[in-house]
Amino acid sequence: MEVIIKKTYEEMSKAAAQEVARLLNTKPNAVLGMATGSTPLGLYQELVRLHRNEGLDFSQVTTFNLDEYVGLLPDHPQSYHYFMHENFFKHINIPKQNIYIPSGNTSNYQAFCSWYEARIEECGGIDLQILGIGSDGHVAFNEPGSSLTSRTRLKTLAKQTIDDNARFFDKAEDVPIYAITMGVGTILEARQLLLLANGENKAWATAAAVEGPVTGMVTASALQMHPLSTVFLDDSAAGQLKMREYYDWIEEHRPGAPQL
Ligand code: PGA
Repeated sequence: MEVIIKKTYEEMSKAAAQEVARLLNTKPNAVLGMATGSTPLGLYQELVRLHRNEGLDFSQVTTFNLDEYVGLLPDHPQSYHYFMHENFFKHINIPKQNIYIPSGNTSNYQAFCSWYEARIEECGGIDLQILGIGSDGHVAFNEPGSSLTSRTRLKTLAKQTIDDNARFFDKAEDVPIYAITMGVGTILEARQLLLLANGENKAWATAAAVEGPVTGMVTASALQMHPLSTVFLDDSAAGQLKMREYYDWIEEHRPGAPQL
């Protein structure tokens, strides 16, 4: 696991966007795993800027989103369908038919989840998965206690997640209780993982994920088992890392590192 700490949210977002751009420049038909929430907004803004100003091309890209609330229609302002369209997809040149987001409105969730998993596989698997982290240490909606081999499924949200996300709704009671989410096992099959975290309220979860034991109680800790994962942090999210000096030293000396 590589840990990259930047002073600000903007710098963190730009560094993560460079990683995505690097992939698209070498593999224009890459499959990207997308995340929602406030964390990746800066990354999406930077990708949109790279598209507009530097011709970053999404015409052959396919995307799979991590999760969706159950019960919200795609045009609901708090649905992740709406979020992705407004904050990213409508600003780039990705073909509509290449966009996959879990349905929060299906009559058969089990069948939908199996189809979603199969679709990921048919598209060749996810090349790069973008991830945020919940203040309870979740990735996607894999709440504490989730199996580290879980697949896409219906999940009940933890109280802490409902409280955290209440800021986007008029009142806490409006936050959906269920979501469809990729599983930890699904996420671990992506060829590369980028986890982003900013703000002091993520410092505990970040430290637990990066330096704590691998546990289903902090599902982001499963990234420790992935061969190619990078954690991008801003200064305040990195506030509780014990090995902070080590990560900073690596970042500082990178240009002088031996070329193997
Ligand atoms: P946030 O959510 O980016 O809105 O903080 C992250 C998450 O819950 O995964």
